[in-house]
Amino acid sequence: MQIHVMGSGAGGGFPQWNCNCTNCRGYRQQTLQTPARTQSSIAISDNGVDWVLINASPDIRQQLASFPAMQPARQLRDTAIKSIVLVDAQLDHTTGLLLLREGEKLNVYCTVAVQEDLTNGFPVLPLLQHYCGVNIQTISPQNVFSVSGAENLQFEAIALSGKAPPYSPHRQQPQLGDNIALMITDLRNQKSLFYAPGIATITPEVKVYLSRADCILIDGTFWTENEMSEAGVGHKAAKEMGHLPQSGEEGMLVKLKEFDQARRILIHINNTNPILDSNSDAYETLTQNGIEVAFDGMEITL
Ligand code: MLT
Ligand code: MN
Ligand code: ZN
Repeated sequence: MQIHVMGSGAGGGFPQWNCNCTNCRGYRQQTLQTPARTQSSIAISDNGVDWVLINASPDIRQQLASFPAMQPARQLRDTAIKSIVLVDAQLDHTTGLLLLREGEKLNVYCTVAVQEDLTNGFPVLPLLQHYCGVNIQTISPQNVFSVSGAENLQFEAIALSGKAPPYSPHRQQPQLGDNIALMITDLRNQKSLFYAPGIATITPEVKVYLSRADCILIDGTFWTENEMSEAGVGHKAAKEMGHLPQSGEEGMLVKLKEFDQARRILIHINNTNPILDSNSDAYETLTQNGIEVAFDGMEITL
């Protein structure tokens, strides 16, 4: 399978439009040598022609424009996006649906909890019925499913303990399926990708999937639990937002140590995260642990 990182940044992207934190300022002043990052999305293909979009980023227009395979130009109006899979109903993963309204009916795969949020809290699904229309395929957590346009790939949804988005009517009453991870296996060579841009806890069940994966693309949002408040840009802690920070004794780096059979790559990186700076101690620690940092346009073949 081919994996293309459409957007490796967290909500807000990097640099964030209104932010002057060390990283965002460093980028603008060209003292920080790292590429800009658009908001969270990847695309997967089993043939290099038809693609499954996983999450629809608000930056999708720019992401499609910079990835020629997505505009194959076989007919007057054309796209390579066969289906869209959503891992949650967060705005950075769903507002891009609005930008696809000019096309054919969208095939959207999501859980019932996500469908409810996208019908009530952020009613993008009913809204799109007035434009392209949406064909919803329900994902049941803990089940294997197939996705139209990638018949050689097996998808599996793993329910994560996390929160629904701030706008969600059930924000304070977590539901099964608010957040999922995906295990995607190519049935031709049995190679698999574990993908979780937002994960707060590495449970024993998640470990089973991580131990089987050939590539792990996982939550790289924050280096520390209180990064937002330490940077002076917010008050929410990582856990409160459903993210496991990388540093610390119980952090992502320690958790990932035992899964060195896999290529391990951090994705969904917040603009405050010191790993964006390749001269930082944090980045040095990552490299010592054999962990990579995703960037927009990164290509992975499994
Ligand atoms: C998150 O995953 O917590 C988001 O990036 C928040 C957002 O979309 O603003
Ligand atoms: Mn996010
Ligand atoms: Zn910033």
